[in-house]
Amino acid sequence: MDHFELKNGALHAEDVPLETIAREVGTPVYVYSRATLTRHARVFREALSALPSVHIAFAVKSNPNLAVLHLLASEGYGADVVSEGEMRRALAAGIPARDIVFSGVGKSKRELKAAVEAGIGQFNLESEEEGVELAEIAAVLGKRASCALRVNPNVDARTHAKISTGKAENKFGVAYDVAAGIYARLAGLPGLQMRGLAVHIGSQISDLEPSRQAFIKMGALMETIRAEGHEVTHMDLGGGLGVPYKVGESLPTPDDYGRMVHDVAKDWGVTLMFEPGRVITGNSGVLVTEVIRVKQGASNPFVVVDAAMNDLARPAMYDAWHDFAAVNPTGATMVANIVGPICESSDTFAMGREIDAVKAGDFGVFRTAGAYGATMANTYNSRALVPEVMVDGEKWGLVANRIEPETILAAERVPEWLKQA
Ligand code: LLP
Repeated sequence: MDHFELKNGALHAEDVPLETIAREVGTPVYVYSRATLTRHARVFREALSALPSVHIAFAVKSNPNLAVLHLLASEGYGADVVSEGEMRRALAAGIPARDIVFSGVGKSKRELKAAVEAGIGQFNLESEEEGVELAEIAAVLGKRASCALRVNPNVDARTHAKISTGKAENKFGVAYDVAAGIYARLAGLPGLQMRGLAVHIGSQISDLEPSRQAFIKMGALMETIRAEGHEVTHMDLGGGLGVPYKVGESLPTPDDYGRMVHDVAKDWGVTLMFEPGRVITGNSGVLVTEVIRVKQGASNPFVVVDAAMNDLARPAMYDAWHDFAAVNPTGATMVANIVGPICESSDTFAMGREIDAVKAGDFGVFRTAGAYGATMANTYNSRALVPEVMVDGEKWGLVANRIEPETILAAERVPEWLKQA
């Protein structure tokens, strides 16, 4: 459910016509709905309410915009971060350090130190080597870092290969069979407080069975580790719940997910931790674009829009589908290819798709663009970095400026020695 709907024939974000934003800010522009974000945050929390002790850490990577983080902080969400940059954002948004989980396979020494100094609540260690480094850093600072060990359960999440993380060949976590041994060794280091386990098998998960299998395996591992005399008080079950990208597509709901987790984990006697990203932000945002022109094609016409793969990389990277809709639909439809202006063929949003009929100068949206949208934007082809807007009822405002190519150019230099050469 989202709040991007037709009202009097025009597509709105809550009570604001998207055309108003498109004209005032220019396109392309991401538009987020506050009511949708809040609703998703509450639905997800509610779905876990039967569990005894829960901590939800929003996966900042899915949408790190400061206003989005601020809103989720006010909903009581913690944060799952994967870099010092994300950590600084979460702190800047008012998320307490103790509610922040630091994940990621390549945390640098500098990042580990910064996170220990900030008092981050939990490090999800991805290797024994990382644990040893962190123990030394924390000991030097006279602290003990709270940690969970991320385990690779070797379960296929049955999602797109590029966003699958829980198979043995993936780089994430430590192998299941050696995890208990690593846990025991790390628990003996004075700089660490080993308190739990973590797992995350992939993103845009559309079938709960692999997650169930992974969680059952984690429960068994927890028992083994406890039987060896170590404490396990926290279990981080990661994120990954998918969202519908197509009208009418049916996916497991947060309630289905909550029931599955309850089934598997209700008696574990731990604080269960979750790292949802897409399920909170995905359907809370759209990317608004203007049709530059409609060009004749070999079979279908090309609708050339002013958004491109640098603004929304998902179709080019993962063959992802984003529904397209006209902002002021006429009721007519057309079969078209939707493409951006970038000079490569992967800059394609849709091929041979039936869409609302559009012509040059019309505005349209790509839906379900709130997760892994603006955050994956870049400036390829010396294009601007796309701006972001938040809507709240009739109110709206910029939450990230467009960063113009001139600003980026101004950060570049031609050294004197190169000029002389
Ligand atoms: N926790 C960890 C350790 C993760 O690696 C991720 C996502 C999440 C939580 C959040 O997963 P979510 O609930 O959003 O599925 N750029 C890709 C998605 C990459 C996901 C990376 N990790 C895309 O656009 O589909």
